[in-house]
Amino acid sequence: MSIPMIRLDHMSHIYEDAEGQEVYALKDISLQIEPGEFVAIIGTNGSGKSTLAKHFNVLLTPTEGTCKVCGMRTDDLDNLWKIRQQVGMVFQNPDNQIVAAIVEEDVAFGPENLGVPPDEIKHRVSDALKRVNMTIYAKHGPHLLSGGQKQRVAIAGILAMQSQCIVLDEPTAMLDPIGRREVMDTIRQLNAEGITVIIITHFMEEAVQTGRVIVIQNGELKMDGTPRSVFTKVDALKSMGLDVPAASELAFKLREKGIPLPGNIITKEELGDALCQLG
Ligand SMILES: Nc1ncnc2c1ncn2[C@@H]1O[C@H](COP(=O)(O)OP(=O)(O)OP(=O)(O)O)[C@@H](O)[C@H]1O
Ligand SMILES: [Mg+2]
Repeated sequence: MSIPMIRLDHMSHIYEDAEGQEVYALKDISLQIEPGEFVAIIGTNGSGKSTLAKHFNVLLTPTEGTCKVCGMRTDDLDNLWKIRQQVGMVFQNPDNQIVAAIVEEDVAFGPENLGVPPDEIKHRVSDALKRVNMTIYAKHGPHLLSGGQKQRVAIAGILAMQSQCIVLDEPTAMLDPIGRREVMDTIRQLNAEGITVIIITHFMEEAVQTGRVIVIQNGELKMDGTPRSVFTKVDALKSMGLDVPAASELAFKLREKGIPLPGNIITKEELGDALCQLG
């Protein structure tokens, strides 16, 4: 059996609020993510998604329970850099993640810090830019790029570290629809190449493209399953204040009106096909 990419056992995280009171941001979470999975984490504002993601590359450590990455406990300081090399994070704001004045230098930053020899760095940077479809921008200034292009440069920086897992915390929240599609296409492609991808998103149309959806509410794990098993529970998601993909919602409403559609529709294509078959 392979070692899980991420494994949480009864993990909780407590913050202190402004009055100094301890508040559970995550409560008793146990879950396992295998190498090669493509996972979406969804939940309303303040539900604990970012707090959860920050445990995956040791920006936070558990208050209770354990978090292991590639079998390494995150609360053991000896593991810190090995874990950070395995798991890269991409954040919401594309402008906060750029450190160099030229795209290829930005992508080289991680491996340079790891002490990788210059020839090997050159090779890794060119490979990483190719995989995110940004080769022609190698010599450009990052500030001239679109938001979607900047996010892809950030992803290339992680690839250049040869990380096995990419965690993206609302990477498309500040992008236009084209940028969103570019980023989603890129991470889908990388996942197909074997990279473990974990994406936090408020866009259900993005979550539907993954292989597994985890729902967090008030710091607790509420659902964990395929997009189909999660997004067909329209009532349960709505009662938590969450959206569902437009196709799930429309199919749900039509079924309520007595139109005999199957109960497992989650994409526009499936809805279109099912409507055509009504004749
Ligand atoms: N550094 C902190 N100190 C104290 N409380 C915090 C801190 N960071 C987050 N919290 C609180 O912990 C809870 C979970 O926050 P978190 O940022 O993980 O939620 P989220 O699901 O990512 O929300 P959003 O969708 O708005 O990004 C919230 O109640 C938040 O106010
Ligand atoms: Mg967040």
